[in-house]
Amino acid sequence: MTALFPNYQRFNFEIVSGQSITLTDNKQKQYLDLTSGIGVCNLGYNHPIVKTAVQKQLNLIWHTSNLYQSSLQEEVASLLTNDNGSKVFFCNSGTEANEAAMKLARKATGKSKILAFDHSFHGRTYGALSLTDNPGIKKGFGPLVPEISFAEYNSPAALKQITTDLAAVILEIIQGEGGLKAADGDWLQAVQAKCHEKGVLLIIDEVQTGIGRTGKLFAYQHFNLDPDIVTSAKGLANGLPVGAMIGKEKLAAAFGPGSHGSTFGGNPLAMAAAKAVLETIDQAFLDDVSQKADFCWYYLQKEIAVLPMVTGISGRGLMIGIHLDPKIPVGKVIQQLQQAGVLTLSSRGNTLRLLPPLIITGSELMQGINIIKNVLETMTVH
Ligand SMILES: Cc1ncc(COP(=O)(O)O)c(C=O)c1O
Repeated sequence: MTALFPNYQRFNFEIVSGQSITLTDNKQKQYLDLTSGIGVCNLGYNHPIVKTAVQKQLNLIWHTSNLYQSSLQEEVASLLTNDNGSKVFFCNSGTEANEAAMKLARKATGKSKILAFDHSFHGRTYGALSLTDNPGIKKGFGPLVPEISFAEYNSPAALKQITTDLAAVILEIIQGEGGLKAADGDWLQAVQAKCHEKGVLLIIDEVQTGIGRTGKLFAYQHFNLDPDIVTSAKGLANGLPVGAMIGKEKLAAAFGPGSHGSTFGGNPLAMAAAKAVLETIDQAFLDDVSQKADFCWYYLQKEIAVLPMVTGISGRGLMIGIHLDPKIPVGKVIQQLQQAGVLTLSSRGNTLRLLPPLIITGSELMQGINIIKNVLETMTVH
């Protein structure tokens, strides 16, 4: 008997501790983690720098309110923006960051329409859910927020839908929940150019792709883009709840005193963790992620792409989707991998999703891929 709402479909074991990239369950079984708690614990579990920073802050104070100055929020904002004049609003999750982005875009432009894309995922509160293209998770919750339309992701045809009456366009650089589809650089540039031409704000949701996941702090930086608003969460505080909306300086006036807020947003423990994370993920760390990712993609192509049940591999950096033949249900693969001591995720379209902690080594990646190969080889396509 459970006193919890049944909204999560849970596996029948509990993770009780973690060290580096190894997790231990309530029966003392150990797992190689290729999930990072869904893209959150990018520095693994029990990271000493993050832990020490949080412990230190715990001894000072763990909550005041946003009625007072916060030098920790200032420091994290400065790390997130590289002091380029952009402004940051802190909240507690990805969905809240997208809510803030949507509110800011509407208020700053005086327009209400927003364009999102097919198979997008932006969160589950009303605004973010309305920007999400997944009928299954919207069913029964209507009416949703009006004035939102959808275009085909990564398609030139979508450009026609970017018109002057839009407040904003919102997109992910790689669709994390939507099947690990990655947008082309040319298309992203064309979307940005059309937004500029039509006076439309460009919002990039970096909740899953950000904080080093693809080898840059934010995935849009691979393409030299200059979004008006960026949203972040997940890996930002390595497991303490946090969200952030980063907006250009020109938008600051629309978020004047009293316009938006959050009791817990910018909480000192979350900020101490975020500061430690951002100071750790420096250029050398990012270069190391890229190098490991290059090896990982080489090894995936060599060992996994050639298997008969694998129809393709997509993603970038350490954000990987292995697309499986429909006859091999991804749920079954995930369970068999659990038995073999590896934790993985799924994504749309029978995709096995890997989001390993960014501190994983090349040989641990190889070990994980070898186990995935062995498990897939036991499952035949009929
Ligand atoms: C791209 C993207 N945006 C937003 C969210 C929502 O974040 P949260 O679950 O923290 O509200 C997610 C969560 O998976 C995500 O992947």
